[in-house]
Amino acid sequence: MIKSEILYILSAFLFIYGLKLLQRPDTARRGNLLSSLGMLVAVIVTLIANGIVSYQWILVGLVAGGVVGALSARLIAMTSMPELVALFNGSGGLASLLVATEAYHREPGVDSLTASTMFLSVLIGGVTFTGSIVAWAKLSERIDSRPRLFPGQQIVNFALLIGVIVGAVIFAGNPADGRTVFFAIVAAAFVLGVLAVIPIGGADMPVVISLLNSYSGLAACATGFVLQNNILIVTGGLVGASGIILTRIMCKAMNRSLANVLFSGFGSAKTGGTKTEGEVKPVSAEDAYVLLEAANNILVVPGYGLAVAQAQHVLRELGGLLQANDAEVRYAIHPVAGRMPGHMNVLLAEADVPYDELIEMDAVNPTMDTVDVCLVIGANDVVNPAAREDEASPIYGMPIIDVDRARTVIVFKRSMRPGFAGIENSLFFKDNTRMLFGDAKASLEALSGEFKSA
Ligand code: TAP
Repeated sequence: MIKSEILYILSAFLFIYGLKLLQRPDTARRGNLLSSLGMLVAVIVTLIANGIVSYQWILVGLVAGGVVGALSARLIAMTSMPELVALFNGSGGLASLLVATEAYHREPGVDSLTASTMFLSVLIGGVTFTGSIVAWAKLSERIDSRPRLFPGQQIVNFALLIGVIVGAVIFAGNPADGRTVFFAIVAAAFVLGVLAVIPIGGADMPVVISLLNSYSGLAACATGFVLQNNILIVTGGLVGASGIILTRIMCKAMNRSLANVLFSGFGSAKTGGTKTEGEVKPVSAEDAYVLLEAANNILVVPGYGLAVAQAQHVLRELGGLLQANDAEVRYAIHPVAGRMPGHMNVLLAEADVPYDELIEMDAVNPTMDTVDVCLVIGANDVVNPAAREDEASPIYGMPIIDVDRARTVIVFKRSMRPGFAGIENSLFFKDNTRMLFGDAKASLEALSGEFKSA
């Protein structure tokens, strides 16, 4: 017993140290590996030490889960990763709910404290499960991704919450006879999960998913108390805390409060802000080449469109050609560019862009006046000067990369369609902006071709 607790501490250490290494792109792989090792230690110790009832069924679960996990991770497109994470979170929530339900089924006459942890486990697990399914359905557009608001929605949510709290008090008071209340709480948790996510628009789903990730950790933590398993308490706590931190970072990067994300129905009415004046100036790949060939300091700002076009490898190639032409090339990363945290870092890492060429938004903005040419590739909202200039804009106050302060800006996109926030971008109408219309991959290939044939 003591030995297994020591090994649990070792695996907790591996989780925490692994998380720390995830802070930097160049140590992230090692961090992932160490955390996986921590999980392996925890699984082996649990299997050996805890008088497992049926190794056969555990093996079946292990193989089935392993196959589903490996296949989905391999087959899923990078742009659909948030949907997969939503499903994983939902599974985590459901697992906590089922384990707590089984524990109650096995031993209904528990004390009030254990009953309270069972209650928390099924409540948070149930909300996480159905909330994640709705988030997945919205992201994959299986249901309408617009916020669904109905009159009295907050009142219904509030009444349900009060009902659940009353149910919890009754259940904890007499768990042995609380079967009906227990299942009423499970049903209420399922409904609450749906009602909590339905009013949130597709645009805010990544934040919701990060929050649900945190919930799945808290549910696991509560289940750890039910099972008196220390490593489950630690890992659940770690997931709960890191999910909340990530949620906060994302909200901050969009200059919105969590309450605004959860309750405002952002995106239900697309308001465009002030109408932009000016002229759009298209540019050809040949003319863009002339601008780039003469530039010394080049900044690339990638966005969601780079992921859609899968143009990261061609971009890396062009970066190399520009460097061979004696230009300094850097890549500016906005914290919410793309559709998931770290999306652009992952994309550029996939194409082996050196980590030291990546710069964060806060570090790049003060240097923007020195940039000769800024290539905005499939990014839109994260470079929209309306966030700085137009108080009527829905994204006013959101921190952006100030690309409009570069000498020349070349925007790669297919059309004048708006980005995720659904609003016009005043950058496209600025005097120093040129639009290179077309699929980002094709445009980058054309530019590389110009350099190669020069
Ligand atoms: P967006 O503003 O969504 O713009 C992406 C642009 O890419 C579109 O305007 C689109 O224009 C272009 N595009 C799409 N496919 C393309 C292709 N094949 N070739 C060239 N261009 C292509 O992207 P962003 O600037 O990265 O901003 C991210 C948005 O997501 C922000 O509003 C952010 O708040 C939101 N968001 C992100 C996160 C995270 S964690 N990343 C979380 C919550 C919300 P065309 O259709 O004209 O080509």
